[in-house]
Amino acid sequence: MAIQRTLSIIKPDATRRNLTGAINQKLEKAGLRIIAQKRIKLSKEQAGIFYLVHKERPFYDELCSFMASEPIVVQVLEGEDAIMLNRKVMGATNPVEAGEGTIRKEFALSIGENSIHGSDGETTADFEIGYFFSGLEMAG
Ligand code: CMP
Repeated sequence: MAIQRTLSIIKPDATRRNLTGAINQKLEKAGLRIIAQKRIKLSKEQAGIFYLVHKERPFYDELCSFMASEPIVVQVLEGEDAIMLNRKVMGATNPVEAGEGTIRKEFALSIGENSIHGSDGETTADFEIGYFFSGLEMAG
C-alpha cells in the first residue's frame, strides 16, 4: 500500500465540546500521523467553496452555515492507505449507521453535526489539502 495524505476537519460540534484531543487520539491510535494542523474559523463563503460539490444538495446552505458557526481544526493526516483508513476510523456519515468504536459513532450528534470530515479520494484530497495548507506547512 502507498503512503497517502488526506484532509481531515474536526467540525464545530466537536471543537465546541472540547473533543479535539479525544478525536486526535483515535486518529493516531489507528496509525495516522497528524503532519499539519491548525484551528481556524471559516466564513460561510469559504465553507461554501470547500463544499462546492454539494451545491445542489438540499442541505448545502445548512452545511455551510454550520461549518462557519464556530472554529474548526483542519489537519493533514499521513499514513499507509490514509484516505481509506481515515474513512474507516471516522465511520459512516450518519452516526446511526456508524460502526462501534468509530469517531462518528462515539461523538457525532447527527448526520449534519457529525464531528469530522475526511477526503473521499485522491483527487479530492489534493484539492482539500491545497485549500487549507501550503507545502511549507507540512513538515512530515
Ligand atoms: P462530510 O463528510 O463533511 O461531507 C458532506 C457533509 O454533508 C457530510 O459530512 C454531512 O455532515 C453533511 N450531510 C450529508 N447529508 C446530510 C443531510 N441529509 N443533512 C445535513 N447534512 C448532511
